[in-house]
Amino acid sequence: MLKIDYTNVMAEAIGEKDGILRQEILSLRDFVSSAHKKIQKERNRKFYFCQLPYQDINPVKEYANHIRENFDYFVLIGIGGSSLGAKMLFEALTQKDYNLKEHPKFFLLENVDPENFDYVIQQIDIKRTCFNVITKSGSTVETIANFSIILSMLKKELGESFKKNLVFTTDPKKGFLRKFGEENGIKTFDIPPQVSGRFSVLSPVGMLPASVVGIDVDGILEGARQMDKITSVEEHIESNPAYLLATIHYLANIRRNKSISAMMPYVERLSSFVDWYRQLWAESLGKDGLGQTPVKSLGTIDQHSQIQLYLEGVRDKIITFIATENFPVDFSIPDNLPKEISYLSGQTLSQILKKELLGTKAAFVKNRIPNLTITMDRVSPYNMGMLIYLYQLATAFSGYLYRVNPFDQPAVEEGKSFMYALMGREGYQDKLEEFNEFNKEEYRLVIS
Ligand code: PA5
Repeated sequence: MLKIDYTNVMAEAIGEKDGILRQEILSLRDFVSSAHKKIQKERNRKFYFCQLPYQDINPVKEYANHIRENFDYFVLIGIGGSSLGAKMLFEALTQKDYNLKEHPKFFLLENVDPENFDYVIQQIDIKRTCFNVITKSGSTVETIANFSIILSMLKKELGESFKKNLVFTTDPKKGFLRKFGEENGIKTFDIPPQVSGRFSVLSPVGMLPASVVGIDVDGILEGARQMDKITSVEEHIESNPAYLLATIHYLANIRRNKSISAMMPYVERLSSFVDWYRQLWAESLGKDGLGQTPVKSLGTIDQHSQIQLYLEGVRDKIITFIATENFPVDFSIPDNLPKEISYLSGQTLSQILKKELLGTKAAFVKNRIPNLTITMDRVSPYNMGMLIYLYQLATAFSGYLYRVNPFDQPAVEEGKSFMYALMGREGYQDKLEEFNEFNKEEYRLVIS
């Protein structure tokens, strides 16, 4: 179960200067209805991510079992949309002490930071490790660099049988990794060509790693299917959670100058969900001088850090709180406390967390800062599937509102091209000249 409470973004709660009028939402009804029809038509093309909850997941589960039975360690090599989804699911749906008690132990190689690489290598026995290399393009520098080092280590340890320690997830036809996989007979899962990285968590990109660490992927896909059923039938803006979420953020941004969308879970398990959301929202909608900057906060930690700014700083934010009604464990504060702190007696930690959220929300309303709350009954595979699908559709639909293509990332590609030029990659020589134009160090201060 997910509940979206958007009372506190409405003008009735926080005034017309910062809050949205119901009439403004309803005025977009026809627009939404026509976008809805376009989305339904595009399900097999641009909106192919909508079909992922219906895939046959059995081959992924079977191979995950093979990995669980044959390896002690599982390392995901990938970055951006090729790692954030699996990382989010691992944090949300396994126990905090997973790597101490379970196997295969799970690690990520995302960045090209040599110290982190060294740390991961120190944690594993390379011969007992399955490496899942995930890259849609098959050529992302960070991923291919990490993979190349691992490959030479594997070959040194295992000779020709290095292949059994690798599994690839990539485009069905294109890219270096696909070619390498085919030439070397390496087990490879497909990323549907129509699905861009940040919309791919429900494909083998997220489902294989999740299944390897024992997460109920059927439950995730069931939740996503349920959200799809609701959102593909319901075109009325106030009954369609994805369109509603998108419209609220759009109106807050365009009509009330709320250029920052902060997300603040009061559940530590959902910390990486915000990282996943940030990429989805930023890379999909930050185009043509438009878009909202997604910002990460964590309740209650950031009550003691960011909240002062949110309440009394620049009035440019809309906040999404995420809460759960139930935690799997809880702890009570003893009764026999000294008088000064006796107000805590008998409370549980989860009760305090809930009251802190209620207190924070009241302070937001008092300061007329728009905020909404998404509550789930528990952090479960089913609810995560619903939440993931909800945000993917809200983001993709926002592309219509902002009139931008939510599925490309031209500016990211620009940076990649300069980097390829610097590394001497064939076909990028022209970019080096352009790079030199933009790489000036005229004002410098060196301190030693
Ligand atoms: O969402 C996207 O498309 C990007 O963020 C990619 O996921 C990221 O750049 C990694 O690309 P690839 O999967 O091709 O290695």
